[in-house]
Amino acid sequence: MEHLEGRVAVVTGAGSGIGRALALRFAGEGMRVVAADVEAETLEQTADLLGAAAAEFTTRLCDVADPRQVEELAEASYDTFGAVHLLCNNAGVFAGGLLWERPLEDFTWVLGVNLWGVLHGIRSFVPRMLAGSDEGHVVNTVSAAGLFDAPYAGAYQISKFAAFAATETLAHDLAAVGAPIGVTALCPGAVDTGIATSARNRPADLPGRATPDAEFVEQMLTETTGRGAHPDEVAGVVVEAVRAGRFLAFTHPGYPARLVEQAQARMAGLLPPVVAYE
Ligand SMILES: NC(=O)c1ccc[n+]([C@@H]2O[C@H](COP(=O)([O-])OP(=O)(O)OC[C@H]3O[C@@H](n4cnc5c(N)ncnc54)[C@H](O)[C@@H]3O)[C@@H](O)[C@H]2O)c1
Repeated sequence: MEHLEGRVAVVTGAGSGIGRALALRFAGEGMRVVAADVEAETLEQTADLLGAAAAEFTTRLCDVADPRQVEELAEASYDTFGAVHLLCNNAGVFAGGLLWERPLEDFTWVLGVNLWGVLHGIRSFVPRMLAGSDEGHVVNTVSAAGLFDAPYAGAYQISKFAAFAATETLAHDLAAVGAPIGVTALCPGAVDTGIATSARNRPADLPGRATPDAEFVEQMLTETTGRGAHPDEVAGVVVEAVRAGRFLAFTHPGYPARLVEQAQARMAGLLPPVVAYE
């Protein structure tokens, strides 16, 4: 979708990090923006920034793990702007630790946001986008963790591999019906955002459990993301991918070569090497 100006973008997880950078970049491209997040205070800050940029926008509180709230987000987006052209299923959370040490609530929470959030977004928006018959694009924020497995992050890894599969399936389904809607799987490496403090938005009825393995990986994530790419760089990669109609969008140039090594290991019946999350 080359032409962005005047078109409508919806971004989930727009209160912070990559989502906020996407919302601001889209506004900078002259798009009308629906910024959604579960966290009221940070969403308000994004609204202030969009306002300062003289953007045409609206904000909405939305927990993407709840299909009813995502449906209401879609209704509100169409009520406000009459169309949606660019959907960014971006909201995501992280919980770390060894697979057998973590409580079930970790999996419910992380899969609820990172996988079900993407599915709810697809199910509520894509039928409306198809009915509008306009050109469109869906960007799902996956992760390098949706392509390469690593230890100490099972719930996140599983959610992102599944989100990648959902994104690839969506692209095949839309192509199969000849829809004018492109799809991008955004697969960043480390980005300097609030992802390491995801627990700030963890629902009280899905409590975590402090275990040494989880604390270890969360500390590592804090350090790695602190050295990571700036979210604005990621927003630039997304705009370029949307315009070019590219399915896979990387932020780190070394990843294509890592995919080759992964394939070679699998072809040899070996466990693929761990890829540094940098
Ligand atoms: N930061 C990284 O290194 C990195 C790398 C690869 C992929 N990602 C992915 O990027 C996406 C954005 O994360 P980020 O790094 O900007 O982190 P972030 O914590 O800065 O932003 C995530 C946003 O999602 C929101 N959110 C959390 N739960 C939600 C819910 N249930 N409903 C709606 N919004 C919710 C948060 O309030 C926050 O504003 C996530 O999908 C994450 O997995 C991040």
